[in-house]
Amino acid sequence: MKQYETMEALRSACLNCRACGLCEGRTHVVFGVGDPTADILFVGEGPGAQEDLQGIPFVGRAGQLLDLYLKAFEIERDRVYIANIVKCRPPKNRDPRPEEETACMPWLERQIELIEPRVIVCLGRIAAMKLIKPDFRIMKEHGLWFERNGIPITATLHPAALLRDPSKKPLTFEDFKSIRSHPALAGRL
Ligand code: URA
Ligand code: SF4
Repeated sequence: MKQYETMEALRSACLNCRACGLCEGRTHVVFGVGDPTADILFVGEGPGAQEDLQGIPFVGRAGQLLDLYLKAFEIERDRVYIANIVKCRPPKNRDPRPEEETACMPWLERQIELIEPRVIVCLGRIAAMKLIKPDFRIMKEHGLWFERNGIPITATLHPAALLRDPSKKPLTFEDFKSIRSHPALAGRL
């Protein structure tokens, strides 16, 4: 992936990717959106129905909830970067398979190299298990800080999980407080 020296070059290549079976069912590759020099990188699981139709991550119901959190913490969506572990929609929104995650990771790894974010925020357990550690326990370990290749990384609950169980919303609120006040973001955003 090193040959792709800009996000736009990487995007163009990714839009033609057929490295795993998820390419068969997609309408659009959902590469990622935002500022290619962002301080914060959010990483979800994979596109849902709306995302697949529009080619943009987090634009469906879960995305609208994410937008509310961003607004509440005065984080502009245009100034962060938002991506997913897999960039094509799994059928019926099933979990991505290990081989699909593995096939797709080089795109995300290169996105991280190009962005050089100050912090990474995993949205949900799938991203946390892939980016933090395989045995990550989302209910036990959300809001804690880890490090990935020198970059501070944390996870919060997936907004879709908050839609299923709104009583968990205060947990994500606390996680966002911790994100917003991370020393690496002091005086930024
Ligand atoms: N859920 C995700 O994990 N990613 C999206 O882009 C949308 C919903
Ligand atoms: Fe390629 Fe990722 Fe789409 Fe699979 S999910 S086809 S690896 S872009």
